Amino acid sequence: MSGNPVVVMRLVASAYKVAEKAGSIVRKVLHSGELGIVEKTGANDLQTLADRLAQKSICASLSRNFPNITIIGEEDLPAEKVEEDLIEKGQEEEILQKICPEEFQALKEEELVVWVDPLDGTKEYTEGLLDNVTVLIGIAYGGRAIAGVINQPFYNYQLGPGATLGRTLWAVLGLGAFGFQLQEVPGDRRIVTTTRSHSNKVVTECVDAMEPHEVIKVGGAGNKIIQLIEGKASAYVFASPGCKKWDTCAPEAILHAVGGKLTDMYGNAYCYNADVKHMNSAGVLATLRNHEYYVSRVPPTVRQALKSD
Ligand SMILES: *[C@@H]1O[C@H](CO)[C@@H](O)[C@H](O)[C@H]1NC(C)=O
Ligand SMILES: *[C@@H]1O[C@H](CO)[C@@H](O)[C@H](O)[C@H]1NC(C)=O
Repeated sequence: MSGNPVVVMRLVASAYKVAEKAGSIVRKVLHSGELGIVEKTGANDLQTLADRLAQKSICASLSRNFPNITIIGEEDLPAEKVEEDLIEKGQEEEILQKICPEEFQALKEEELVVWVDPLDGTKEYTEGLLDNVTVLIGIAYGGRAIAGVINQPFYNYQLGPGATLGRTLWAVLGLGAFGFQLQEVPGDRRIVTTTRSHSNKVVTECVDAMEPHEVIKVGGAGNKIIQLIEGKASAYVFASPGCKKWDTCAPEAILHAVGGKLTDMYGNAYCYNADVKHMNSAGVLATLRNHEYYVSRVPPTVRQALKSD
């Protein structure tokens, strides 16, 4: 294995393999038929065996390789010894070969924060909407999301048996985004993607205010950002405090690496320092282009309903 001396590049190369491993855990648990579903705060806030195993695998693998990095995962799990077969030691060679953008070359482990959502779209996972499911590993420095890895464990499952399942998308700011073909919604069509399971009056009012030509309701923040970068949607509009830092860090880095933007409903950036609160209280507004238009359409009543961070 070739060495890349830059911590950020080694971390992304590890996160890539670790996300793949987590994706295979997510598939295995589904095929076993024993999801082990637990309601956290209610029926729309679920945790499965896949969330628990995938997070253990991701956090233990990364902290073994990078002992001084702060890692924050979605699931509140008891500290316990992690089975050796959950540990991933590999690093993606293609990433190790890349040159790190200059501004990140000297970063140290202590300066990096990793935000982990082991299974974004858990509700969809339990309902068999499998493309909606992603594994998210975001990397932040100085409060900014600077790199991200998204694994989509069931990518291609609609092709039927025999298809190779899963893919991994990744990006580093200033270096680029990989693992997919960037596409834009044609013309000036406004296709808004939003929540399928966490809607309410404010969420709907805000979507309507965008005057969309079309509204798509899908699960998962990771999945919605993939829609933006693959030309399926022009804006992700979620006027609710329901999203957390681990839902947005990796997707934001990938979106920003291709010139898009993710902010709260006021158009302000979120901060990903280790000590920020986890909830994205002022909602999520993400676009590939024309961010200002969407920010300008957010009704004052919607802003008032959401507190700025
Ligand atoms: C981690 O931090 C300790 C204590 O500050 C330091 O001695 C060590 O070199 C660091 N390790 C790495 C891999 O950065
Ligand atoms: C994702 O979920 C939506 C419904 O929320 C569903 O229409 C779509 O087919 C799902 N994606 C796949 C391909 O499973």
